[in-house]
Amino acid sequence: MELLIKIKENARKLQKKIVLPEGTEIRTLKATEIVLKEKLAKLILLGNPDEIKGIASKENIDISGAEIIDPLKSSKRSHYAEMMVEIRKSKGLTSEEAMKLLDDPLYFGPMMIKAGDADGEIAGAINSTGDVLRPALQFVKTLPGVSVVSGAFILMLENKSFGENGIMVFADCAVMPQPNDKELAEIAVATARTAKNIANIEPRVAMLSFSTKGSAKHEFVDKVVRATKMAQEMAPDLMIDGEMQLDAALVAEVGQLKSPGSKVAGRANVLVFPGLESANIGYKLVQRLAGAEAIGPILQGMAAPINDLSRGCSVNDIVTMIAITSNQAG
Ligand code: ACO
Repeated sequence: MELLIKIKENARKLQKKIVLPEGTEIRTLKATEIVLKEKLAKLILLGNPDEIKGIASKENIDISGAEIIDPLKSSKRSHYAEMMVEIRKSKGLTSEEAMKLLDDPLYFGPMMIKAGDADGEIAGAINSTGDVLRPALQFVKTLPGVSVVSGAFILMLENKSFGENGIMVFADCAVMPQPNDKELAEIAVATARTAKNIANIEPRVAMLSFSTKGSAKHEFVDKVVRATKMAQEMAPDLMIDGEMQLDAALVAEVGQLKSPGSKVAGRANVLVFPGLESANIGYKLVQRLAGAEAIGPILQGMAAPINDLSRGCSVNDIVTMIAITSNQAG
């Protein structure tokens, strides 16, 4: 909880402009009221102003401090369309196609960011991960020198003996189904940075597998071994080690036994899983069976912060993700 308070305090200082493409969605409107009341960010709701105001008034939600932009009527449409054609010229995108895409708030939002009219975006309360991410991947793209976008979760455990006083960061729980060795290395480095910048912990990154330091032989293990080496070379300043099993990563005695001398084994606070299946299942196991609070997915590697909500998200989840997106934009 202390971490969330810090994240919100920082967001309050930063006063970033966050665009919410799902402007008619009730949880989003309720979150808007809270964010504006707590002065966590400046908000832009996308959609038809009469419709948005009508829903808010019917539900008794005060959104008077939010800017509302109708993607169908915005004076910026042709400017954004020109930018889109330029960005996708190698794919043959025409002006007409760009204008049509801009009717969709999930394209209009990322173009606002690209044009500097907003600092970040949150969507996904009523749209799938793919539909939220595709426009961002196509037009906002990755940070310079980064080829892969991935999604991390911050897990806050009641058992403070794990991670950093109960705080752990897991990835990639949201985006890349089967990362190759280089992509996995990039995910490790990006997740370490998220751990440092957002979770406020000094990262000790474990590259997970079903083998610890050669105990099993398989091509899946080889991939993690190569990724570990690449990640260490990409970021020699970071503590990254592997390949290791989960118990070797988390339990001091097992870590010492299976990976003696490792600075990470037995005390990892960042877990990098070998693929999306294990990472997505893994974070949900910890959330459901250990009762950990899960914050995310926090998308990393994108040139500007765009985050995806789960369709089962609560109003509070949206408020938290707006604060996190502001921190990432800071
Ligand atoms: N990083 C950077 N760029 C990417 C990435 C990535 N991870 N994935 C795709 N791209 C780029 C592609 O290179 C392509 O670029 P281009 O059009 O300029 O050539 C563009 O994005 C579109 O890629 P496609 O593969 O055509 O898009 P697609 O929609 O098929 O896939 C997506 C992208 C949506 C992210 C897909 O990988 C996906 O669905 N992943 C799983 C998401 C998911 O369901 N997660 C689990 C739920 S989330 C949760 O439970 C928390």
